[in-house]
Amino acid sequence: MARTTLTRTVLAAVSAAALFALGACSSDAGTETGGGGETGGADDGVITLGFSQVGAESGWRAANTKSIQDTLTAENGFDLKFSDAQQKQENQIQAIRSYITQGVDVIAFSPVVETGWDAVLQEAKAAGIPVILTDRAVDSDDESLYESFIGSDFVKEGVTAGEWAVEQYDGEGYKAVELQGTTGAAPAIDRKEGFESAIEGSDIEIIDSQTGNFTRAEGKTVMEGFLNKHDDIDLVFAHNDDMGLGAIEAIEAAGMTPGEDIKIITIDAVKDGMQALADGKINYIVECNPLLGPDLADIAKAVIAGEEVEKRIVVKDEAFDQEAAKEALPTREY
Ligand code: AHR
Repeated sequence: MARTTLTRTVLAAVSAAALFALGACSSDAGTETGGGGETGGADDGVITLGFSQVGAESGWRAANTKSIQDTLTAENGFDLKFSDAQQKQENQIQAIRSYITQGVDVIAFSPVVETGWDAVLQEAKAAGIPVILTDRAVDSDDESLYESFIGSDFVKEGVTAGEWAVEQYDGEGYKAVELQGTTGAAPAIDRKEGFESAIEGSDIEIIDSQTGNFTRAEGKTVMEGFLNKHDDIDLVFAHNDDMGLGAIEAIEAAGMTPGEDIKIITIDAVKDGMQALADGKINYIVECNPLLGPDLADIAKAVIAGEEVEKRIVVKDEAFDQEAAKEALPTREY
C-alpha cells in the first residue's frame, strides 16, 4: 500500500533467512506464530502487522491477546504476525528487529517495561515502518518514534482504587500492603503513584510493597511473605486481579477470611476477579479494559492510508463493588 518504501523493499528481500531463523523456532527468546503469507508491503491491500506481546502472565493478557488475534484477521485485511516475549524486554527487541527485517507494514507492541526502547524504535523509523503502542507506554523524549499509543490511564486507575479505600477505610488506621506489577512496567509505576497520591493525608498506611510480577503464583508467594512478616495487615492493594487472587489463596491458607479479615482492592476486572468480588473475597475492582484489538486495527488502517491519527487514545475504564460485579458478571466479555 501507500507506505511501501525502497528501504523496506530491500529489507524484505534480504529477510528470508532471518525470518526463517526466528519464525521456525520457539525458544527462550519468545515465540512467534501466524503470518503464513508474503511480507513486505500492503500493495495487495493486506496490512502485514507484527505484534510483540508482553507474555501470558495474567487473565487480562489472555483477553488482550484474544482481542488482537480475533480482530486483526485476514477477513479484516490483516496478515498478523504475533510473538510472545515471555515478559522479557530482550525478546521484544528481538521480535521488533525481526519484524523490521521482514519488512512488515506496521509494528505494534505492548512494552514490558517503560525504558530502553529508543534504539530499536529508531531502527523501525529508519526503515520507514510505523509503530503503534498498545496497552503500555514507553518513556522516551522522542514522540516521533511512534504514531499512536492506545491504552488505559493507569495513574487514574490507581487514584480510583485509592479514593475508594479512603472513602471506605479512612479513620480506621488501616495498614495496607501493596502487590506491585512488573518492576519498571508502566502500569506498576503509574498505579503505585496514583494510589499513593489518593491515600496521602489519610490514615491508611502502606507498610510493605513488593512486586508479584502480575502473576497469580508470585502474588501468592509475596503475600505469604507479607503474612509471615506482619500480623496487622488490614488491606491489600494488588496492581492486578491475578495477584489479588494469589493473595486470596495465601490469606485462606493462613486461616483468615479474604474480604473480611483482610480487605482486597485490585485492578483489571477480568472474570475470575469479578467472581471473587461477587463472592465477597475481593472488595473493589477498578477496570482496565483489555479489548484493544478494534482500536489497533482502526489506527493501523488509518496510518497505512496516510491519515493523521491521535497520538494518545485513552481507553475508558469503570470500577466495581460487589453489587456491580454481580450485575455485570452474566454478560462479562472477559
Ligand atoms: O498492562 C496491563 C496489565 O498487564 C494488566 O493490568 C495486568 O493484568 C497485565 O499483566
